[in-house]
Amino acid sequence: MHTPLGAQLRQQPATAPLAETLEAIAGAGLVLAEKLRRARLEDVIGEAGAVNVQGEAQQKLDVLADELLLEKLSRCSAVAAYASEEQARPRMLRADGRYCVLCDPLDGSSNIDVAVPVGTIFGVLPCGKGAAPESALLQPGRVLLCAGYLLYGSSTALVLASAAGVDLFVLDPGRGEFLLAQRGLRMPAERKIYSINEANINGFDGGLQRWLHFAHENGYGARYIGSMVADVHRTLLRGGVFLYPATAANPQGKLRLLYECNPMASVMERAGGAATDGAAAILDIAPEALHQRCPVILGSSAEVARVCAHLCAS
Ligand code: AHG
Ligand code: MN
Ligand code: MN
Repeated sequence: MHTPLGAQLRQQPATAPLAETLEAIAGAGLVLAEKLRRARLEDVIGEAGAVNVQGEAQQKLDVLADELLLEKLSRCSAVAAYASEEQARPRMLRADGRYCVLCDPLDGSSNIDVAVPVGTIFGVLPCGKGAAPESALLQPGRVLLCAGYLLYGSSTALVLASAAGVDLFVLDPGRGEFLLAQRGLRMPAERKIYSINEANINGFDGGLQRWLHFAHENGYGARYIGSMVADVHRTLLRGGVFLYPATAANPQGKLRLLYECNPMASVMERAGGAATDGAAAILDIAPEALHQRCPVILGSSAEVARVCAHLCAS
């Protein structure tokens, strides 16, 4: 018998307001999963005609996902603020809220029109009563109360990382609810799989190029989907290492610290893996801006250590 998400959340020490917040995110994911399946039929494929604060063309579903999450979270009594990749500034919801929610509403959205898996990434930060949510949003990822992602793939998965560990839920479309599929996920310490966009190789640090040569010479397999959520989910379940390093086009890396790297780093570390920017643990980086980017190397602890050993040797 698979425990439903709501029942599982209430078994853990998570307080009812946190459970309510997580169920709101899962509820948005439920609706979004269906929207994605029917996107071509309902003509919600393609660009929205606007550019987000990142200077990236927004997909119609980026906007739809963002509005859906904002609408669901604005009904939660404990959410003080909502910050997302698609909003230049945080949305303040309640002065007496306890949590700030960070989201990448739709990750990998350039893949939507070719039916490649995409996802939603989220993190829940504590927001002390009366604290200014703007400052509460700029906390290191180490203080995340919980974090995780939804993956809209061959099945719809919800991965939730908290102090209790990392749990995997899977959507039962017939019942319209997420059911617990696996508790306490632990990552393999090593696995010869690497995931990186090798088209950027000429812009990689010399040490990274030497690590890539080591991987080529030592029987590693390459897997790169181009949706962070899908690449990270495979890394969580099978092991290996995912990287989006500094490149010529993105000298700070492409992925955003607050709502992509931190939540994924939290999942990795709580599952026994590692996540670094090449110099420090991602979760210990002190954020300075809502949309700041950072290089990311995450996955099996031994594989991340091998990459860093080559970087240090350079
Ligand atoms: P988003 O769709 O939220 O902007 O994220 C896209 C990101 C991430 O999903 C993926 O790992 C990365 O873009 C792929 O970038 P490249 O196409 O440059 O490899
Ligand atoms: Mn993304
Ligand atoms: Mn996105």
